[in-house]
Amino acid sequence: MKRIVILTGAGISAESGIKTFRDADGLWENYKIEDVATPEAWYKNQLLVLEFYNQRRKQVLEVKPNKAHTSIVALEDKFIVNIITQNIDDLHERAGSKNVLHLHGEILKSRSTKNPKLIYPIKGWELKLGDVCELGSQLRPNIVWFGEQVPEIENAIPIVQRADIIIVIGTSLLVYPAAGLIMYANNSAKKYLIDPVSLPFDEISNLRIIRDTAGKAVPHLVNELIMENDK
Ligand code: APR
Repeated sequence: MKRIVILTGAGISAESGIKTFRDADGLWENYKIEDVATPEAWYKNQLLVLEFYNQRRKQVLEVKPNKAHTSIVALEDKFIVNIITQNIDDLHERAGSKNVLHLHGEILKSRSTKNPKLIYPIKGWELKLGDVCELGSQLRPNIVWFGEQVPEIENAIPIVQRADIIIVIGTSLLVYPAAGLIMYANNSAKKYLIDPVSLPFDEISNLRIIRDTAGKAVPHLVNELIMENDK
């Protein structure tokens, strides 16, 4: 079976109703990164950071996977599929995708501030001041903040290196190391980029750019890949 790697960003969840970060009226237009998404922000004001992510979590629990998330799942009958997502929502998992690697953490989980290996599911939408891990330290959202290491990148790189087909969906490719992952792809791997906005992506070999929304373009591409594979 051929291997497909799907790299996703906020754009794939936009049609489910979750705002992207850098589009007009995106999250970073309404919040300052340094106030809510850095270790310094946490050090300064844990309540504000918890509240910011509580709102994000509440929203994730209210929305559903869209056609882009659900159509991808059919690829698993014909290919070995790995999803590498920058998204912190669980919409790929809820759609039914099996292998999902979250580069930037998961909003529905909390993490110990003493031992980062202690990760817990969050019940409901709120993580509160005073919620502690088994070692007694305050729990933080299980999110990779700006300025923090991205440990999952080490697992993501070999997955990209082995891919026969790579599909990039809905990411501005501005945040590293995630944005650099495509550079590890084999020259001969077929690459697709789905985004309604044009991105600076021209020096990549074997690349087809599909300038459309994920909800429209992904189901088409999935059909095309399955048909080609069945030939
Ligand atoms: N379908 C496909 N793509 C879309 C859609 C849509 N319906 N709507 C918007 N997009 C595209 C935008 O054109 C943009 O290129 O999604 C991309 C979203 O880019 P960002 O908002 O920068 O999101 P992302 O690339 O996922 O951000 C990376 O930045 O703040 C951090 O940790 C956060 O994981 C996030 C990282």
